[in-house]
Amino acid sequence: MSVQVFYKNKANSNNYVLFVEEGFKIKGIKKHISNAEFTYINDLLKTSDLKKNLLVFEVSSKKKIILISIKKNLKTSDIESLGAEFYGYINYGKKSEYTLNTDSINSTVENFIGYFLHGLKLKSYEFNIYKSKKNIRLILINIIGKRNKLTIKNEIRFKAIEAGTFFARDLVSEPPNVLNPREYTNRLLKLKKLGIKVTTYNEAQLKKLGMHSLLGVGRGSINESFLVTLEWNGNKKDKKSPLSFVGKGVCFDTGGISLKPAKFMEEMKYDMAGSAVVAGLIQTLAIRKAKVNAVGVVGLVENMPGGNAQRPGDIVKAYNGKTIEVLNTDAEGRLVLADALSFTEKKFKPKFMIDLATLTGAIIIALGEEYAGLFSNNEELSKKLFNVGEKVKEKVWRLPLHENYDKLMNSPIADIQNINYSGGAGSITAAQFLQRFVTNKTPWAHLDIAGMAFSKKAANLNPGGATGFGVRLLNQLIEEHYE
Ligand code: BES
Ligand code: MN
Ligand code: ZN
Repeated sequence: MSVQVFYKNKANSNNYVLFVEEGFKIKGIKKHISNAEFTYINDLLKTSDLKKNLLVFEVSSKKKIILISIKKNLKTSDIESLGAEFYGYINYGKKSEYTLNTDSINSTVENFIGYFLHGLKLKSYEFNIYKSKKNIRLILINIIGKRNKLTIKNEIRFKAIEAGTFFARDLVSEPPNVLNPREYTNRLLKLKKLGIKVTTYNEAQLKKLGMHSLLGVGRGSINESFLVTLEWNGNKKDKKSPLSFVGKGVCFDTGGISLKPAKFMEEMKYDMAGSAVVAGLIQTLAIRKAKVNAVGVVGLVENMPGGNAQRPGDIVKAYNGKTIEVLNTDAEGRLVLADALSFTEKKFKPKFMIDLATLTGAIIIALGEEYAGLFSNNEELSKKLFNVGEKVKEKVWRLPLHENYDKLMNSPIADIQNINYSGGAGSITAAQFLQRFVTNKTPWAHLDIAGMAFSKKAANLNPGGATGFGVRLLNQLIEEHYE
């Protein structure tokens, strides 16, 4: 990591960071700087854009004063965003040091500095292990004033979320020649050291279980398919009905025989992001020792064309006994999730099931990079997800399910077909397909994160690339409602 935070209680830096009231009202910082500096800044402010969150003043050739404006009624997520924005200003040079004066913080939000540094750290993520010349950067943050280290509450919570998010981002960023299903499984096995129970199923075992829907997707690849379960049992008193999270782990999606076009196909290494978020979330729960029982289930496959690949027109039998006519081998995520969902429901009898998947291009058309699509058979779970999403700025928007959409998935010769040729609504019909593999008694929510899992551009707490979208959302859901 390139950012280090430490606490010296002495300002010895040339970069001095102060917090001011909304609109850069600087009266409050008079006591922290010299009269000359105050006058200098006061003059410059007359021609500055006071709507900004952050302004930098070079008060001398050696000293910069950075003012961060604290708007009224700031929420914790706004403070995280401020920390991330601050990182944007300090992310240059080989080595730099910033002194952050916490006595200038005029906010009633508890744990202000904890949230600020959390946002900063999430934004500072880099994936550089394949660069032979690394851009090594050391940013030291010296916290001074009364809101010192001891006042940061739940530091372990922040660390756990950062680690889980970074784990997810790392997995998503890995190239597909490295992170095949076997290598992925091996990395998940390492989570055992955190007290997570990891169980792996290879192709022979999946065949015995009857997971031919998942297996059909991996048939064209020389890389073996796996299903992995990750169990975190932090609530020893109530062992039954864990919360469950199911992830699409297509390590690379060429489309199979229904081959994708070449342009941007490389982005399909991200097609395992749903599973990476599930793994990151379970890791977060383990690190912060969450008092909850949760299980993550991920289906890990590679969707390739090849002599042994499944064909459009094939019929496969899923784990729950239903037959599926595979009309398009590129609608493979739902085939993987179908088995993973019905297996999870039967084996763990969960309190709820939430699946995450980069499932459809259509959800990007509908919601872009702003909201994940939410589909659910349960009002309460939907509301909870919506609310925690707004809170942590990992937003979800509910789209409908309806029996008329469901009918579009009927196959003339099997129980169900994996795409609909007429009727549009590509993201909804994908969700309808999934719902056929959930018995209606289990509250279930499907998050289509195709637009959220990665982004070429940086936004809020993401530096660009893999986002880890979903770790913070689901961690918040658990904290607020299930612990
Ligand atoms: N992994 C893709 C969906 C996707 C597309 C994710 C673009 C991220 C960016 C999925 O497996 C897929 O190929 N879906 C098809 C479904 C279609 C064949 C019904 C799609 O969306 O085109
Ligand atoms: Mn596909
Ligand atoms: Zn896919």
